Amino acid sequence: MNVSDIAKPHDRLAAWLAQDMGAVNDLIQERMASSHAPRIPEVTRHLVDAGGKRLRPMLTLAAAHLCGYKGPYHIHLAATVEFIHTATLLHDDVVDESAQRRGRPTANLLWDNKSSVLVGDYLFSRSFQLMTETGSIDVLRILSDASATIAEGEVLQMTAAQDLATDESVYLQVVRGKTAALFSAATEVGGVIAGADDTVVKALYDYGDALGIAFQIVDDLLDYQGQSAATGKNVGDDFRERKLTLPVIKAVAKADAEERAFWSRTIEKGHQEDGDLEHALDLLHRHETLEATKIDAVAWAEKAKQAMARMPAHDLRDMLIDLADYVVERIN
Ligand code: IPE
Ligand code: IPE
Ligand code: MG
Ligand code: MG
Repeated sequence: MNVSDIAKPHDRLAAWLAQDMGAVNDLIQERMASSHAPRIPEVTRHLVDAGGKRLRPMLTLAAAHLCGYKGPYHIHLAATVEFIHTATLLHDDVVDESAQRRGRPTANLLWDNKSSVLVGDYLFSRSFQLMTETGSIDVLRILSDASATIAEGEVLQMTAAQDLATDESVYLQVVRGKTAALFSAATEVGGVIAGADDTVVKALYDYGDALGIAFQIVDDLLDYQGQSAATGKNVGDDFRERKLTLPVIKAVAKADAEERAFWSRTIEKGHQEDGDLEHALDLLHRHETLEATKIDAVAWAEKAKQAMARMPAHDLRDMLIDLADYVVERIN
């Protein structure tokens, strides 16, 4: 089959990058092992073998090819980015007390929080070993900056949770940190390793940043209106965790006194009862905030497309443009 005959942009990218992704997956398997502590391969295999979309490593590979890179290190960088992502997932599921990830019970549920935290730390450290092998200080700077920014985003979210005063600007800051920072680093390092000039690297950064924001807004929508069978995660986690995500922030802004009392009880005080999630969904529908949130996601996807359009013509450029639409369409 021709790559251009494949319907979904994500699958088209995967087909174009199949050989590279094979090498990335081999490198991930090789470096996630540890002969000294058997718990490490147990936990990493559980998560890594469940797959995941592998979006971020594909972004790095695509960016490097777009910039004409011919060396070997885009593979290391793609694996690095997926290692960082995997480490953050292990930690995130502890912090969010999540029970399902990639269609499987989470590691914190199957083993315990300690295993998830420590194996996550191990994967973070492995990611730094991998990136040093590229010999590029610029790449080290970009990925270590991104790691710090992700942690900041998660901490900011933790302190903003349960606080009805959280507004859209705080939400944007959280999302840019916890999610978009890794997307933009993933695309940026692909250009940097290829020695691309500053305007190209900036376009790649802007694309990753906007795509990451759109992606997380959609993830937050799916937390209310997704199907667990499709997302591989439990629906309603964010409400239970009392997170002020965009649909809720928009609903709180429009709440009358009675609705505000509901949000105050469930989100601020955390007194949740049976039927509250359904009532929350009713309020999101009443104020059409799911639709408004989707419009915001579409606008960020549009920004991503505009940034990618600044890149030179290439099949991969067109796939990355289509990917921005696909990230938003996965709601349907
Ligand atoms: C999950 O990311 C974490 C978020 C930023 C929402 P993905 O949805 O890319 O996770 P996998 O790798 O495909 O499982
Ligand atoms: C994803 O946060 C960001 C990171 C993992 C750093 P979420 O908590 O929103 O993601 P999911 O919904 O658990 O995948
Ligand atoms: Mg989570
Ligand atoms: Mg989280």
